[in-house]
Amino acid sequence: MKYIQYISAKEAADKWGISQRRVASLCSDGRINFAQRVGNMWIIPADAEKPEDGRHSRYQGENLGVTKTQSERIASEAMITESIKPFLKWAGGKGQLLSTIQEYYPFKENNITRYAEPFVGGGAVLFDILNHYDLEEVYISDINAELINAYKAIRDDVEGLISLLQVMEDEYIPLKNEERKVYFYEKRERFNELKAKESDELDLEKAALMIFLNKTCFNGLYRVNKKGQFNVPMGGYKRPTICDAKNLKAVSERLQGVTIVHGDYKQSESFVNASTFVYFDPPYRPITESASFTAYTEYDFNDKEQKELANFVNAISKKGAKIVLSNSDPKNIDEEDNFFDDIYAAHTIRRIEAARMINSNGNKRGKIKELLISNF
Ligand SMILES: C[S@@+](CC[C@H](N)C(=O)[O-])C[C@H]1O[C@@H](n2cnc3c(N)ncnc32)[C@H](O)[C@@H]1O
Repeated sequence: MKYIQYISAKEAADKWGISQRRVASLCSDGRINFAQRVGNMWIIPADAEKPEDGRHSRYQGENLGVTKTQSERIASEAMITESIKPFLKWAGGKGQLLSTIQEYYPFKENNITRYAEPFVGGGAVLFDILNHYDLEEVYISDINAELINAYKAIRDDVEGLISLLQVMEDEYIPLKNEERKVYFYEKRERFNELKAKESDELDLEKAALMIFLNKTCFNGLYRVNKKGQFNVPMGGYKRPTICDAKNLKAVSERLQGVTIVHGDYKQSESFVNASTFVYFDPPYRPITESASFTAYTEYDFNDKEQKELANFVNAISKKGAKIVLSNSDPKNIDEEDNFFDDIYAAHTIRRIEAARMINSNGNKRGKIKELLISNF
């Protein structure tokens, strides 16, 4: 009997000179014979050959006159490069600022091979980076336990999650409005029940409910009350896509090998080194009382926390990491308010126009300015 000796995905990645994420994606695509999944890790036969890289050859098929089987293989590889997008709508989502944030990506120069996003939220920047770069290591965290549970469910059991979401979609869509309300509030109650357990064990049902509620609630908003209960009412979407299986599968593939942490942003300190790009998108400092939205969790993020974050940024900046941080600009309302100019005095502050308009009764109407602060 022949015994197979295995090595880890990290060892295979080092041996073949590719990223761990690429190894995971080759394994889940069945490109490495006898590779096995153990928990959320892949193990690879020690004598496995590095598969040929066909990722960028998908448009060449006809020109090269390749055989049908090769074309088919190329088409299936094209699935690996499917673009991914956020699977939740999230307050403060960075979709609209992406093109400006992209100007800061330092991956091409400077030996930056790692990425950390300690306030990941809906992950618009994370997904953009995963779409465009094949990095060695990626770290994400958020203090919102339910959000992190959803990321882990997608990474570790996307098929199970899709089955649960498909059932909810099939049940919800045909219902009349009054029946939908009953269904929605039942699911919301069940979600809050599971949330109250405060367990960090992977919970597929809770992840599916989180996505269902996000897709069907008012404005697709996630907000909790002081007791930590999700309290957004039902929304009026006629045919929401509750189960976007294609995107979820593609996201799952890209999340293989990504470190996903439930906790405070400060835990990222040990991950960060001179080869790391860190993007911080903390809860924004409210520029007006009415504009205040910091209810991602039952914990506050006030001026004291903003200053602590600035100290943290200064500390990891000394490690040589490349850092970008977003926040609101208090000068939209009060020219004299130098809060961020003071606490980030050591860094470069750029004021950029966001797509949103100022909606207070303030004297200055027009496009709102936001801050992008960088240490380079
Ligand atoms: C502005 S949002 C991030 C939005 C995200 N960039 C996006 O595109 O969707 C801020 C996030 O920080 C999280 N958060 C708040 N306090 C935190 C803390 N101390 N440590 C880590 N995450 C925290 C919130 O749960 C929220 O998801």
